[in-house]
Amino acid sequence: MDFSTRIVLIVLSIAYVNLVSIKATMADASSNQFAGKLRQSKNAVPCNFDSLTVRAKLRYDPEAIGLASTDYGHIVRDIPFAVLYPTSSDDITELIKFSNKCPLPFNVSARGYGHSVRGQDMSHNGIVVNMLSLNEQYKNATGIRVSTAGHYADVGGEQLWIDVLNATLQHGLAPVSWTDYLYLTVGGTLSNAGISGQTFLHGPQISNVLEMDVITGKGDFMTCSKDKNSELFFAVLGGLGQFGIINRARIVLAKAPKRVKWVKMLYYDFSIFTRDQEHLISINGLDYLEGELMMDYTPIDDWRSPFFTPYNESQISSLLKKHGILYCIEMVKYYDDETANLVDKEVQRLQVGLNYIPGFSFTRDETYVDFLNRVRQGELTLRSKGLWDVPHPWLNLFVPKSRIMDFNAGVIVDILHREKKTKGPLLFYPTTKTKWDDRMSAVTPDEDIFYILGLLHSGNFSNWQDLDNQNNEVLEFCDRAGIKLKQYLPHYKSKEDWIKQFGSKWNTFQRRKAQFDPRMILSPGQKIFNSV
Ligand SMILES: Cc1cc2nc3c(=O)[nH]c(=O)nc-3n(C[C@H](O)[C@H](O)[C@H](O)COP(=O)(O)OP(=O)(O)OC[C@H]3O[C@@H](n4cnc5c(N)ncnc54)[C@H](O)[C@@H]3O)c2cc1C
Ligand SMILES: *[C@@H]1O[C@H](CO)[C@@H](O)[C@H](O)[C@H]1NC(C)=O
Ligand SMILES: *[C@@H]1O[C@H](CO)[C@@H](O)[C@H](O)[C@H]1NC(C)=O
Ligand SMILES: *[C@@H]1O[C@H](CO)[C@@H](O)[C@H](O)[C@H]1NC(C)=O
Ligand SMILES: *[C@@H]1O[C@H](CO)[C@@H](O)[C@H](O)[C@H]1NC(C)=O
Ligand SMILES: *[C@@H]1O[C@H](CO)[C@@H](O)[C@H](O)[C@H]1NC(C)=O
Repeated sequence: MDFSTRIVLIVLSIAYVNLVSIKATMADASSNQFAGKLRQSKNAVPCNFDSLTVRAKLRYDPEAIGLASTDYGHIVRDIPFAVLYPTSSDDITELIKFSNKCPLPFNVSARGYGHSVRGQDMSHNGIVVNMLSLNEQYKNATGIRVSTAGHYADVGGEQLWIDVLNATLQHGLAPVSWTDYLYLTVGGTLSNAGISGQTFLHGPQISNVLEMDVITGKGDFMTCSKDKNSELFFAVLGGLGQFGIINRARIVLAKAPKRVKWVKMLYYDFSIFTRDQEHLISINGLDYLEGELMMDYTPIDDWRSPFFTPYNESQISSLLKKHGILYCIEMVKYYDDETANLVDKEVQRLQVGLNYIPGFSFTRDETYVDFLNRVRQGELTLRSKGLWDVPHPWLNLFVPKSRIMDFNAGVIVDILHREKKTKGPLLFYPTTKTKWDDRMSAVTPDEDIFYILGLLHSGNFSNWQDLDNQNNEVLEFCDRAGIKLKQYLPHYKSKEDWIKQFGSKWNTFQRRKAQFDPRMILSPGQKIFNSV
């Protein structure tokens, strides 16, 4: 594709970026040196910053602006006016109060590790709060404080889950609910849900928070829990950053296991695959369950976590040639010194009655930490090949169990496999709604069991739109078929779509916005209250 076609494509596809951003995107296509090309208008904010004490901690330089106007998605670019590098929560409180006092308030967005894929952590013409700056000032901030007596940790919203793991393990404890990848911030995942293979058992990460300190959109510093300021507590969990900035979260801990048995089993029959997955989350004893779609046109091991030996790969690859699509169950049993001699028997017990393809069960033995941190190695490999900072047109869906056969036929077989475009891990596993608290902002389908689909595409600057068109095709199919799904890490362009996403929770969501962020300052990059 030539240069001008590419410009046209980008102009057409990213309706809301301005010309400056397009230039930046073009520069970014070949290198990451785009920062120097960004320009933000210093007149954009109609406020006199002279009276702002924290102004010394604002940065306007290309490096700071460049970082704050990009994310893991590499699709959206919103240029902020400045970036705040706070050294305490007071800095954030002052900034938000100040914005509230302006005739026209400016946008404020917390940026965790910037792992959003659609600019959700950006702040058009406003200020991005670089939360990691608090981590560097940890002596002054919450950091990570473990209570062994209470089995919880008080953790700064800016902390990475890998660091939470590391700190809690020093006490033989660990959080119970995880994400697949640990280089995400506590505030960032609690603003969404935080899901992984433990969710069916313990609920998402938002179900494992006891208390939080939140700086609301009005600049009020409030401690909240189920019993205290509960409206704020439930609003913030899964609240997409709309109500406040999480300064501290008290996370549930349990005794940490030492090692894991990590098993993958293959299926070619979708209905047997899903029946076994649902069976596994209904019995006692399993610690983790996920699943994946394997396609005959992509490598057998995705970058996330190399698992199979070359010999196993060749076995699987001839099976894939025959069936086109294979479905993979991934399950884990934790153990430690006391249970080491029983764990193999226990895994066998869990496998009783399962109908995977005979012989196609693969087991690995790992430390608990290496298992939890399994995506990191893949990240480092991709980084070394320059394949990490590329466009990520991801689509994550929650699909109601009752329509899963239609979903397989219409989406997995007829769109994903037929078009042979997908590039990256295709996650697919069931989880249980009972572990989610419906008073929280997070939304799920209206059924006791729903499936999590993760199309974790890696694209390049010429083909990401193609992958995104396929995402739209998936959404349109489900819409036509009446499959009432919800997006996870949602991204919508119109208010109607947001209202549909929140369903019966929309009125509550709106009321909470009016209560905690009435001037609609926070996390504008979600494009909920300012969507076109
Ligand atoms: C490789 C990879 C793997 C992933 N795997 C999983 C997974 O297994 N499970 C899962 O659930 N998610 C997963 N995610 C998605 C992840 O949860 C989101 O990217 C999420 O946005 C967290 O990233 P972050 O901490 O960088 O937050 P950001 O992207 O910086 O922020 C996300 C949103 O939260 C807001 N926000 C950030 N910090 C705060 C705060 N302290 N208080 C209030 N609001 C805040 C931001 O303004 C923004 O709206 C994955 C992402 C990547 C890149
Ligand atoms: C630490 O926090 C206190 C109170 O918020 C503040 O006065 C002080 O300046 C902070 N120290 C640093 C190094 O930011
Ligand atoms: C805040 O961000 C939204 C979304 O990007 C944008 O539409 C709006 O103009 C911004 N507000 C201000 C005051 O700049
Ligand atoms: C865990 O913490 C220790 C001590 O602070 C540090 O040496 C080690 O590198 C950390 N490990 C990880 C994976 O961050
Ligand atoms: C996987 O490969 C290893 C050797 O690389 C082999 O020992 C093992 O039997 C294979 N597993 C299965 C289930 O075939
Ligand atoms: C982008 O990816 C597509 C599909 O893999 C490939 O055909 C194309 O050559 C790539 N383009 C660039 C510029 O890397």
